[in-house]
Amino acid sequence: MSIDHPSFGRIADDRVIIFDTTLRDGEQSPGFSMNIPEKIRMAHALAELGVDVIEAGFPVASPGDFDSVRQIAEHVRGPVICGLARTGGRDDIARAGEAVRPAERRRIHNFISTSPLHMKYKLRMEPETVLELVTAGNLASRQFTDDVEWSAEDGSRTEPEFLCRCVEAAIKAGATTINIPDTVGYATPEDMAAIFTMLRERVPGADTVILSAHNHNDLGLAVANTIASLKAGVRQIECTINGIGERAGNAALEEIVMALRTRQDALPYQNNIQTPHLLRVSRMLATITGFDVQPNKAIVGRNAFAHESGIHQDGMLKNAATYEIMTPESVGWTKSSLVLGKHSGRAAFRDKLNAMGYGDLGDNQVQDAFIRFKDLADRKKTVYDEDIVALVDEEVRDHARIRFVSLDVAGGSKRASRAELELEIDGEVVVTATTGNGPVDAAFNAVRTLFSHEATLVLFSVGAVTEGTDAQAHTTVRLEENGKMVDGQGSDTDTVVSAVRAYVHALNKLLVKRTRQQPEALSA
Ligand code: KIV
Ligand code: ZN
Repeated sequence: MSIDHPSFGRIADDRVIIFDTTLRDGEQSPGFSMNIPEKIRMAHALAELGVDVIEAGFPVASPGDFDSVRQIAEHVRGPVICGLARTGGRDDIARAGEAVRPAERRRIHNFISTSPLHMKYKLRMEPETVLELVTAGNLASRQFTDDVEWSAEDGSRTEPEFLCRCVEAAIKAGATTINIPDTVGYATPEDMAAIFTMLRERVPGADTVILSAHNHNDLGLAVANTIASLKAGVRQIECTINGIGERAGNAALEEIVMALRTRQDALPYQNNIQTPHLLRVSRMLATITGFDVQPNKAIVGRNAFAHESGIHQDGMLKNAATYEIMTPESVGWTKSSLVLGKHSGRAAFRDKLNAMGYGDLGDNQVQDAFIRFKDLADRKKTVYDEDIVALVDEEVRDHARIRFVSLDVAGGSKRASRAELELEIDGEVVVTATTGNGPVDAAFNAVRTLFSHEATLVLFSVGAVTEGTDAQAHTTVRLEENGKMVDGQGSDTDTVVSAVRAYVHALNKLLVKRTRQQPEALSA
């Protein structure tokens, strides 16, 4: 039976709604925070990817979260824009309603814990009170939009009888999507299938709403649990790019989508994802957050389509289908990503940026990126797409109170390393020269001299964006201040310059964070 949905109209039986929560569940995990311009870029990329719903954040959590949801609702067209709210939270639903108001299509997602453990220790509420809140929360959400989702937090560990009563109450109060999260990643595929089968058999009205799965990956079962839920009648799946999310993360969007695409024989469900965009969105997220996916990560890991053994290579040369179940191109890998050279002009550079999904950059940002591209093309034999991504990402960092201007380092085995650094701080150019135990240490001492701060360096890692000795270095610097952690990234053909850029980026993020109010134990 097909369902009539307020945002999607009549939904065919085999259609699966892709609900992306990278910017909410993903962003709330340690080290993955993004600033507003970064979230907006991600949201545009998710819209181009073809997700149906973007969960843009948790508006009541902080003014910064509210603003990011609000701005995504204002600027991003295509997907339904959703804001999270606690079912019984003071102001949550009104704040979420206000934040998503400018969206073409908007959703409020309200949630409350329903398991005995959570109700007793976390909420300190009786089940009957929770049940009353479910009704009140969904009625309140309907004041702001017809598209209301309700979630039973810790749903997979909830008493079946009570879960059915809560779901029935939510539907009666106007919820149009019912989500049953495996909040702690405890369930098996059979458990999740049994829960959805039970709801469909026992809850009046279950056939008039979209059932939704939201699986965490603590036992590495998030994708398997999502697929099992689909087979049991779920028609919305909640997932994140690269599987980021609380603790071990959420079900990875790219893995579920490619499982559906590759195994249509066993999983005959349809969605709107433009799979050739998958790699770009994955890379964008990794660059913004500073967390690369592991090389063997399915679909988007560096080795996902690499064939090392002679036997495999031989098979691949004869027929790629011998060892590849999907083509690399179908998820965005390109064989030759050689791009512009040093003679390319601004128009060609702009075209390239548009083709790579950077069409939203302003003229000044394009101009600055173009100057850096010319400089790079002079120093580097071949400029690849990955180099352009790294270089453009340098330019799109807003809120930059501190800007890198220039660095001169001298080192070697005979004397202490020396760094002369020029930074622009709040519009004023300042210079210093310092020494250190190696060029990176000298350069970092120079940063500390010019911009004194209390943050401590907790991670420093360098990798190459592309291959060869003239490759751009890509550095991640993680700083910690009063329990807050931020990652900065920098790229340059000079490793020390890339390190300083990363340090400056992290400091800028810390400055943005300092101005942001912290949520008080609001995370779901
Ligand atoms: O994992 C969870 O229970 C959640 C809910 C807020 C949907 O993220
Ligand atoms: Zn979650």
